[in-house]
Amino acid sequence: MSKTQKTAPSPLDDRAREVADRLHRQNRRQLLGSAVPALREAVKAKVGTGQWDWTATASGKEMLQDKMVAIDPEKAALCHLLCRSAAARTVVEIGTSYGVSTIYLAAAVRETGGLVIGTEHEAGKVAAAERTLAEAGVGEYAEILTGDLRETLPPRLTELEQQGRPVDFVLMDIWIPMALPALEILTPHLRPGALVVCDNVISGATDYADYLERVRSSGDFLSVTVPGQGGIEISMKL
Ligand SMILES: C[S@@+](CC[C@H](N)C(=O)[O-])C[C@H]1O[C@@H](n2cnc3c(N)ncnc32)[C@H](O)[C@@H]1O
Repeated sequence: MSKTQKTAPSPLDDRAREVADRLHRQNRRQLLGSAVPALREAVKAKVGTGQWDWTATASGKEMLQDKMVAIDPEKAALCHLLCRSAAARTVVEIGTSYGVSTIYLAAAVRETGGLVIGTEHEAGKVAAAERTLAEAGVGEYAEILTGDLRETLPPRLTELEQQGRPVDFVLMDIWIPMALPALEILTPHLRPGALVVCDNVISGATDYADYLERVRSSGDFLSVTVPGQGGIEISMKL
């Protein structure tokens, strides 16, 4: 009798899965290697700013400049499945980094006839993500906006809106202080029923307080929290 795997198999084809699995392994090694410096940065941030979030401090930003900080494979697979189930055509990724999650989203819109709009501040990460997506065979299904999303995203969303393409799905996977500003930019462009998946809302609950208040209590969204691996919040635009 064959042994049952703990989790469902990857939804990616062989070519994309090989690239994604290699990057997931690289990400795990990077996370292990930076655990102690990350803790040091968190303590420094708490002392200096009163918050554990160290992504906004100068030394924290410097340390993160070349780090992947990629989403877990099971969460990426869930996003892939949700995009396909919703027949999502316009997918926005808030925080692309080296493009690990983007592989899953781009593979989904290849099936739905859509496009992923990625956003990434660091030009070096964008170049790496573009190589990753090409290697995975999904490069033509994603474009990545380079720079601060507060500047790059609004004009692109307006263009899409003018083409009759509201946003169907969002993966929110960014330094926490940027999550609410990104959501406010996106909200007028979300179609009713659009899904916004936000990563690590349980492990980062204190720092996500304003974001969570918005999706849980404003009346604009119906929201559920899925525990496990830091938790995710799935919010549907009403
Ligand atoms: C958690 S990582 C994204 C990981 C990616 N989703 C994955 O699973 O591979 C967050 C990324 O957001 C980027 N970022 C942070 N602030 C940004 C901003 N204002 N505009 C665009 N990108 C930003 C960071 O450079 C970082 O690479």
